[in-house]
Amino acid sequence: MNQPIPLLKVSGLTKSFGGVIAVSNVSFELKEGELLGIIGPNGSGKTTLVNLVTGFVKPTSGKVEYNNKDITGWAPYKIVSMGIARTFQMVRPFYQLPAYKNMIVPLYSPRVKKLAGGKYGDRDAVALDLLEEVGFERDSHVAYKVAGSLPQGYLKRLELAKAMALRPDLIILDELFSGLSLAEVASIVPIIEKLRFQGITIIMIEHRLKELFRIADRILVLNYGEKIADGPGEEVMESESVKKAYLGSETD
Ligand SMILES: Nc1ncnc2c1ncn2[C@@H]1O[C@H](COP(=O)(O)OP(=O)(O)O)[C@@H](O)[C@H]1O
Ligand SMILES: [Mg+2]
Repeated sequence: MNQPIPLLKVSGLTKSFGGVIAVSNVSFELKEGELLGIIGPNGSGKTTLVNLVTGFVKPTSGKVEYNNKDITGWAPYKIVSMGIARTFQMVRPFYQLPAYKNMIVPLYSPRVKKLAGGKYGDRDAVALDLLEEVGFERDSHVAYKVAGSLPQGYLKRLELAKAMALRPDLIILDELFSGLSLAEVASIVPIIEKLRFQGITIIMIEHRLKELFRIADRILVLNYGEKIADGPGEEVMESESVKKAYLGSETD
């Protein structure tokens, strides 16, 4: 039987910053529709791996293939147009603009125009719909407030809405839940499950293991830039090297 081509294939990916090897010879594959969780102690290379896949950082060596196309070292805007969207661990909205106006950048992207058949349509309406979808309650008019006045929970939701606006095939969430309360996390989980139900492939970097293990198909573990495990959650947590990596480190 022919194996389907993986949506994403990372081979021997390595990035060194001077003397620090942030990501070291990491390889993995991701099938269409899969939800992959990536965990690892602070500084283990998770964000660098996201930056390598999305073009924000160029690899020292190794390869990134998407839909059987070599996208290694491509510029972020080109990678976005291929259908890969991401959120940032450190949010950086346009603080002076209303939340819904922050949606302009993705909604004006060539990808969105192309998918909409050459027309952008009423972007403000689309922005407000997307924000409602991620939990900006219509009645409270919170989407009209300047981003700088919004608490972290809304800024993280805005990050998610911006990524969703690109109509991605693969969405990468870098610690979307960090800085959020348990109640906020609980209200965002169904949005992620909905994306997955729509067939979107998802990579989630997460410190909240309980929430992650509940929704992920597979967990990949990084430690000091190296992949030390990759498999079903229960299996991965039984691995001696994973236990060792997490001994004495914060996992909540
Ligand atoms: N732009 C950079 N310049 C120098 N060192 C970096 C840079 N980005 C990340 N690093 C280093 O690479 C390592 C991995 O960082 P990072 O990918 O942010 O880890 P994580 O997201 O798992 O916390 C850390 O030692 C970090 O200090
Ligand atoms: Mg990080």
